[in-house]
Parts: sequence; structure tokens; C-alpha cells
Amino acid sequence: MNPLPIATSASIADQVTRALADDHGQLREVTARLALAPDRGALAEALEDLSHELREHFTHEEHARGFYEVLAERSPGHRPEIARFVEEHRELLRDLGHLVWRSQERSAPTRELERAAAELTARLHDHEAREMRLLQAA
Ligand SMILES: [Fe+2]
Ligand SMILES: [Fe+2]
Repeated sequence: MNPLPIATSASIADQVTRALADDHGQLREVTARLALAPDRGALAEALEDLSHELREHFTHEEHARGFYEVLAERSPGHRPEIARFVEEHRELLRDLGHLVWRSQERSAPTRELERAAAELTARLHDHEAREMRLLQAA
């Protein structure tokens, strides 16, 4: 038995979809700032901001009433892909944490950090795009 009337379930799903699109938009702003960082200090600061924003965003997605749960209830067949998304959260946060740490080390070359930041941003954008596609397909 479904504990929620269909209309209520649909409106929760709509709210989650809107919140997800807003969150992804905010993350895009931080990654754009990261890509345009004019110097090492700005790069380190943008990496740290991205780390905070991502931690919060991933927590929302993994929340008991968050995006992944809404998606899994709607389409139980998507659970393996959702589990993979959760794994990617761990991997992205681990690699970003490492990058934040390296950006604060004087010995790490700025060019190399910029390249690593661009790679991480591409992985993140790919992750977010797959989430939106899965949501639309559910
Ligand atoms: Fe995610
Ligand atoms: Fe996301």
C-alpha cells in the first residue's frame, strides 16, 4: 500500500526535482568561478567552496526523503545506478579533499592543479547530467 496519495507523491517529486535543479545551478556557479580563478589564492578558495557546497548537495541527495529515495520509490529498477551515484559522491569528495589540500601546499604547481580541477569538474558535470537523465527517464 502506498502511504501517500498520488497527488502528494507527485508534488514531493516536483519539489525534489526543482531543488535538485537549483542545487545543480549553484554548483555550476562555483565550478565556473573555479575555471576562471585568476590566481593560486582564488583557485584554492574556489576549491574549498566547492568542497563545502558538494558535501551539502550530496547530503541532500542521500537524505531519507531526498532525490535518490524519491527516484528509487518511483523506479526500483534504478537502485543499482543510484548505488553507483552514492559511490561517486565518496570518490568525488575524496579527490576534491585531496585537491584542496594540494592547493594549500606551496610545492604543487598551479598549472597541474588547474588541470586536476578541470578534470574533477568534468566528472562532476557528467555525474549531475546522468542524474538529470535518470530523473527524466524514471
Ligand atoms: Fe549526486
Ligand atoms: Fe547532484
